[in-house]
Amino acid sequence: VTSPNQSSLPITAIERTFQVAWRHRVYFTHDLFAGRLPLLANLLAEDQPSLQPARALVVLDAGLARARPALLGILCDYFAHFDAQARLAGPPVILPGGEAVKNSWTAANAIHLEIDRRHIDRHSYVVAIGGGALLDVVGFAAATAHRGCRHLRLPTTTLSQADSGVGVKNGINAFGKKNFIGTFAPPAAVINDFSFLHSLEPRDRRAGSVEAVKVALIRDASFFQWIEQHASALRQAAPAHLHHLVQRCAELHVNHITGGGDPFESGTARPLDFGHWSAHKLEQLSNFRIRHAEAVAIGIALDSLYSHHAGFLDSLATQRILSVLEHLGFTLTAPELSCRLADGSLSVLAGLEEFREHLGGQLTLTLLRGVGEGFETHDYRTDLLPQCIAELENRPAPPISQPQPRWPG
Ligand SMILES: NC(=O)c1ccc[n+]([C@@H]2O[C@H](COP(=O)([O-])OP(=O)(O)OC[C@H]3O[C@@H](n4cnc5c(N)ncnc54)[C@H](O)[C@@H]3O)[C@@H](O)[C@H]2O)c1
Ligand SMILES: [Zn+2]
Repeated sequence: VTSPNQSSLPITAIERTFQVAWRHRVYFTHDLFAGRLPLLANLLAEDQPSLQPARALVVLDAGLARARPALLGILCDYFAHFDAQARLAGPPVILPGGEAVKNSWTAANAIHLEIDRRHIDRHSYVVAIGGGALLDVVGFAAATAHRGCRHLRLPTTTLSQADSGVGVKNGINAFGKKNFIGTFAPPAAVINDFSFLHSLEPRDRRAGSVEAVKVALIRDASFFQWIEQHASALRQAAPAHLHHLVQRCAELHVNHITGGGDPFESGTARPLDFGHWSAHKLEQLSNFRIRHAEAVAIGIALDSLYSHHAGFLDSLATQRILSVLEHLGFTLTAPELSCRLADGSLSVLAGLEEFREHLGGQLTLTLLRGVGEGFETHDYRTDLLPQCIAELENRPAPPISQPQPRWPG
């Protein structure tokens, strides 16, 4: 490392180190709004500069609002009930859910406009209620208005309750790349209300289980074993099982963010993105037909097979991983896996360089030495990839999915 002052000319420097402490809080509950639980109102009322009630701009996922037509009314009743603590700054803003909301500046602009129009300041809150995509864009808009308004998240999908909503990242997609524009901005708090999960489509309900498999594989063998043992109940979305899965997965993510030493990913490693280098590329190559969780299931399968062929993971563990993903209801291949560029290379490989470039520095991938034993490597043997893809393509069709019950909402 070269010293900044190697010349003989004098340089005067002022250097100080400062630290900022963050408190990361994730709550788990049921029926927050209908049950009029004071939790949200009390959180909003904390640290207000005056005795006036806190002001909240609520942004709601349109898919959620559609699935729960009564929600808007219940939400307004909630704020009316807790009027002494917190007040709506205007009618809730309803924006589309799903990946499309992240694919342009439209939604972020709409939120910025509303933050301006409703005079949301740095002591007010932007409250996001919805799936991971909506939370990402709302978190980004809140973090960039006034150089950062307080924001509070109520994730409403299994994936966002288990993973994205409890994290500190937000962002939108740009230049054909996932999350190219975004910030690290911890939310003031996260409230995971399990009752929201009841109205999810089966495809979105099982999404969270993939991120649970991911974090179990790199961190917690006994959690992986639990998922394996309860894969049928999880596939059927049995409430008690799903809630346990979400809570443990969220806990492992929060532990990593708060105790892993690199909450804002300044290093070169992103262990929680095991299986994600190909997943992000597959989402984009499929024009987002393949959803995030579905792509991550394929990405985990690919990196597990790679770990095996590179000599790190035994075949029993590899087959356990592929089979648990299939039991949870995921398909482990997609036509996009074998797409090739004009020069003959596999299109998905571009994801490796994009993954590296996102953090910069040396390529760092997480692979597996065993179930619950992730490790980091800087090498990737691209010659092993076609074989891994072929194995996924040639797997016998997974068992036909059982019809999944809709829960009472
Ligand atoms: N910021 C991070 O750290 C991070 C981490 C992982 C994933 N992500 C991002 O999260 C996104 C995926 O999130 P997701 O899996 O939550 O999907 P999603 O946000 O795309 O939501 C899926 C669908 O469910 C609807 N919906 C939401 N809640 C509902 C409810 N309770 N009932 C009925 N419908 C409901 C939405 O309108 C949408 O149509 C991706 O963009 C991914 O990149 C971000
Ligand atoms: Zn993910």
